[in-house]
Amino acid sequence: MKPAGDAQLEVRPETRKLTEILRAFPRERGYLIPILQEIQEQHGYLSKESIMATAEHLDLPSSKIFGVATFYNQFKLVPPGRYRVQICRGTACHVRGSFNLLESLETELGIKAGETARDGVFSLETVACMGACSIAPVVAVNGEFFGRLDRKKLLKIIAEYRAREEETKAPEEEAHA
Ligand code: FES
Repeated sequence: MKPAGDAQLEVRPETRKLTEILRAFPRERGYLIPILQEIQEQHGYLSKESIMATAEHLDLPSSKIFGVATFYNQFKLVPPGRYRVQICRGTACHVRGSFNLLESLETELGIKAGETARDGVFSLETVACMGACSIAPVVAVNGEFFGRLDRKKLLKIIAEYRAREEETKAPEEEAHA
């Protein structure tokens, strides 16, 4: 027989993963940045819950962790979009017009670099050289690379992801109708 209140003891998958991540690191303050990097790598961002858990693990005030997370712009405090758009700002991409592409993306998606759209569909990031300079300028969407881009090609790619999103939404809406 299950003990009373057993449901409360159940650990949600994300929490379990977080616990596993933390368990892999010694409880030493010098591990703060590697821990945050690992959580972000696994979860895509630093949730409030993960910051509180890290604070407890390292016996540090959560305000200190928030301070570090906001100081380094590698850390994100909001979840990435379902389509994570990354534009390379490395030298090769820069000289081939990545700045103009970034402006086009910001206009098209209605968000600035580092933000996630309110509907959670797209997020936009600038990243350092993605190691694909020969096909600069490069944009990646959920890890899929697109190279030798100009504005027209880029907007077509975004339109395709939008259409994909609409397709996945349509059956869900029918199911709820
Ligand atoms: S500079 Fe953009 S891929 Fe290398």
